[in-house]
Amino acid sequence: MKQRSDYTFKYNIKNGRHGWLRLTPAYSIKLVKEILSSDTLFATECQARNILDPFCGTATTGVVAAEYGLNCTLYDINPFLVWFCKIKAKNFQDTSLEMLVKKVESDIKSLQKLDKNYWLPPMKNIERWWSEDTLASLSTIHNYITTQWGCPNYNDDYNLLWIAFARLCIETSAADFNHISVSFKDNTTIHEWKSVTDMFLAILMPMIQSAKTNLTGNVTIHEGDSRLLQYDGLYDTVITSPPYPNRISYIRELRPYMYWLGFLESGEEAGELDWKAIGGTWGCATSRLNTWMQKNSHLPQMLLDTCNAIESSDTKNGKTMAAYVRKFFDDMYIHFGNLRNHLKPNASINYILGNSSFYGHFVDTDLIVEEMLRELNFSNISSTIIRKRNSKNNLYEYLIRASYN
Ligand SMILES: C[S@@+](CC[C@H](N)C(=O)[O-])C[C@H]1O[C@@H](n2cnc3c(N)ncnc32)[C@H](O)[C@@H]1O
Repeated sequence: MKQRSDYTFKYNIKNGRHGWLRLTPAYSIKLVKEILSSDTLFATECQARNILDPFCGTATTGVVAAEYGLNCTLYDINPFLVWFCKIKAKNFQDTSLEMLVKKVESDIKSLQKLDKNYWLPPMKNIERWWSEDTLASLSTIHNYITTQWGCPNYNDDYNLLWIAFARLCIETSAADFNHISVSFKDNTTIHEWKSVTDMFLAILMPMIQSAKTNLTGNVTIHEGDSRLLQYDGLYDTVITSPPYPNRISYIRELRPYMYWLGFLESGEEAGELDWKAIGGTWGCATSRLNTWMQKNSHLPQMLLDTCNAIESSDTKNGKTMAAYVRKFFDDMYIHFGNLRNHLKPNASINYILGNSSFYGHFVDTDLIVEEMLRELNFSNISSTIIRKRNSKNNLYEYLIRASYN
């Protein structure tokens, strides 16, 4: 089994809108297209099909579906991702994009770098991310977009500037996103003002070019919790990738964007948001596990056995890690239970999920989810390994499919 980078975010980088902003756990447009075209409804009733992605991340499913002219509804719990998806899935007017380009190019050429009293986001250890000089440059561009255009919103074309700014923040930082966690280079780089403004325009221009291709399907995006799926809607096909039970927090990767763009103001707020997310680990999202109470009495025995093994294998953190795994599947069980109220007869569901390992005990996500789906009366349940996630350990990604009658 290979690592198949063509099924990961890497495949999306040079694909128009799909390359606007990287999210390391995103899946590839190629995978979504393969799932869509293997669905029996695709050939017969293609245009009538309603797709749901209840854990949409960067809207990979939604934008692919809309490129095919299909309607798609997305949910995510993270307000930054919801904002990003709304802009990524928006149709723009060529003429207004051209006016935007002209004005930004001329403004940026005459912009003077601020050298004192500039605003900085309230990020802890910000000096690990950027040198003082680069921070002044970033803050100058931040101030330009805020004062000349406005704060991030869901409607205006200028939101493309904010996406380019988010990319600029990450490309000038000392953070290394080459693997799934974030690490830092030993030293921050000093970027000259001219090189920062050139970089900003070099990110923005191709983005604006790709925004000119219109999407023919409709994408509806809700900020909401997929355990509840609180908005009305009936769907034929679900294509999604929830978090995995592997202690990877989305806040860890998204927090520089979220602080700079005003979606986060403190570490406490980050913890609260991660506690609402399935599989979250940031701040209070881990400490609260010690008092958390399981909601469902029907969780698979295999899961309970794995949790017992994790709990007894490490005296310091075993109990917390066992609660983490149990909560992950408890939340997923609630999600699958409520999902049934939103599925049309014979709907198909397609979940990309990964296994994990704690103190040498493997969490067999594929088998546990299959068992939960059986318990909830789904049929035609299957799972296949689609890629290896790691060269050393036996960590895999699975495509778990089922239907509901
Ligand atoms: C693996 S990512 C999805 C990546 C996506 N397939 C893409 O290509 O960008 C999982 C997403 O689930 C979201 N999430 C976690 N808990 C959630 C919840 N309870 N309700 C809705 N979304 C949630 C996270 O914010 C994250 O964006």
